[in-house]
Amino acid sequence: MKKYELDLEQLPLLSDALISDFSNGVILLRGDLASGKTTLTKYIVNSLGLKDEVTSPTFSLQQVYGEKVYHYDIYNKGLDSFISLGMLEELDKEGLHLVEWGDDALKKILVDAGFDLMEIEIKKMQNNKREYTICTF
Ligand SMILES: Nc1ncnc2c1ncn2[C@@H]1O[C@H](COP(=O)(O)OP(=O)(O)O)[C@@H](O)[C@H]1O
Ligand SMILES: [Mg+2]
Repeated sequence: MKKYELDLEQLPLLSDALISDFSNGVILLRGDLASGKTTLTKYIVNSLGLKDEVTSPTFSLQQVYGEKVYHYDIYNKGLDSFISLGMLEELDKEGLHLVEWGDDALKKILVDAGFDLMEIEIKKMQNNKREYTICTF
């Protein structure tokens, strides 16, 4: 497990490091509303050299950037409908999958199914920086 406390200016360092270790698989992004899940996704997409606009996929099932970067948000739909809409098959496609609001239930399903998985928990700090706690499975 790794922990970093970073402001916005330091985020490119984290996103560059993340993609150099982990460019294929699922990254579960956890943390309260406005903790910085979409922001980290933006930096990761940028570190990958893609120019696509990254937005919160609150009302869409999935967004695709470039050819193999996928962005999801489970908050509105809930895990059951996410699964019944076939999203586990999507997560299994080659590429990098960034999932906002992934929870313990999804984590267990993915670990049990042998997915390459990284979990990033983001917390807002007093000084307005964010604490990133990163685990891989
Ligand atoms: N590391 C950071 N340091 C300071 N502010 C941050 C950081 N990461 C995100 N933010 C700010 O937090 C706010 C909410 O971010 P957002 O990514 O939309 O959150 P979420 O997707 O978790 O709801 C934005 O204004 C963003 O600029
Ligand atoms: Mg978001």
